[in-house]
Amino acid sequence: MYQFRPETPDDHWEVEALYDTCFAPGREALSSYRLRDGVRPVPGLSRVARDEGGILAGAIRYWPVHIGTFDALLLGPVAVHPTRQGEGLGRDLIEDSLSLAAPLGWDRVMLVGDAPYYGRFGFVRLDDVVMPPPTNPDRVLGRALVPGAWDGVRGNVTRWVD
Ligand SMILES: CC(C)(COP(=O)(O)OP(=O)(O)OC[C@H]1O[C@@H](n2cnc3c(N)ncnc32)[C@H](O)[C@@H]1OP(=O)(O)O)[C@@H](O)C(=O)NCCC(=O)NCCS
Repeated sequence: MYQFRPETPDDHWEVEALYDTCFAPGREALSSYRLRDGVRPVPGLSRVARDEGGILAGAIRYWPVHIGTFDALLLGPVAVHPTRQGEGLGRDLIEDSLSLAAPLGWDRVMLVGDAPYYGRFGFVRLDDVVMPPPTNPDRVLGRALVPGAWDGVRGNVTRWVD
């Protein structure tokens, strides 16, 4: 029913409009956006879902971040248009994109979000990983893409530098 494709520059403003629809005003004031400023999303992992008519139904983006000397993916934003929510599209966007991440060389993924939702996908609280303030530590969650990938990973999450 939905086609999943990598986000291209042509999709950019449509995805921004979807995020504006799905998130509260001022979303770009969140501390996670400071980790995205001036950094390109991870190519290939940021994906859009369109219906048979080409209408954008959902989107997911990923940025690279550092945690001390380690690298991680920062999942988000992910959003599904309000008229398409509850059909499993959020789940499919997350699982589809994460299935591509390890083959691209990524070992671990983190996000700031609701544990009751992301727990469904194996995300657990990262006790030793600190997002820029203000962030509720209960919302800092991670999932290993290869076994043991979060073992010993601790410290501040910082903006990606090549
Ligand atoms: C979160 C979001 C991407 C989920 O997309 P979706 O396509 O509706 O999700 P799915 O169909 O895969 O899953 C729906 C289930 O997740 C639950 N769910 C959705 N958001 C949730 C949340 N924040 N906390 C707990 N459960 C949640 C629904 O109640 C539903 O439960 P059910 O399966 O028991 O009926 C979508 O609701 C959305 O765009 N929300 C606004 C933007 C947002 O909050 N993004 C996430 C940022 S952390």
